[in-house]
Amino acid sequence: MGYWLAEKYWGKGLMSEAVKKFMAHIFTKFSLRRIYAYAYARNKGSMRVMEKVGMKFEGIAPKYALKDGKYIDCYIYARVK
Ligand SMILES: CC(C)(COP(=O)(O)OP(=O)(O)OC[C@H]1O[C@@H](n2cnc3c(N)ncnc32)[C@H](O)[C@@H]1OP(=O)(O)O)[C@@H](O)C(=O)NCCC(=O)NCCS
Repeated sequence: MGYWLAEKYWGKGLMSEAVKKFMAHIFTKFSLRRIYAYAYARNKGSMRVMEKVGMKFEGIAPKYALKDGKYIDCYIYARVK
C-alpha cells in the first residue's frame, strides 16, 4: 500500500480515516492475508498513520530507498489477517 495527500490537507485525520476504510474494504472484498507499507525513516507522520490504523511495526529495511542521491532506511508496517 502507498498513499499521498496534498499538503494543504495534512493534519486533519484524513489519511488515517482513508487508510482504515481502505484496509477494511480490501480485506472484505479480496482474500488477502497481508497488507504492508514502507515509510522513510524520517516520515514520523506516516508511521503514526499506520500505528493509528492498527498496523504493526515489523522492522527496518536498511538503505531500502534511494532519495535525492542518498540511500535511506525504511520502516516496515503490516496488518495481517
Ligand atoms: C503522511 C501523510 C499521509 C499523513 O496524512 P494526514 O492526513 O496528515 O495524517 P493524519 O492527520 O490522519 O494523522 C497524522 C498523524 O501523524 C502525526 N504526525 C504528523 N507529523 C508528525 C511528525 N513530524 N512527528 C510525529 N507525529 C507526526 C499527527 O500528529 C497525527 O497523529 P495524531 O492523530 O496522533 O495527532 C501526509 O503527510 C502525506 O501525504 N505526506 C506526503 C506523502 C507521504 O509521506 N506518504 C507516505 C509515504 S510512506
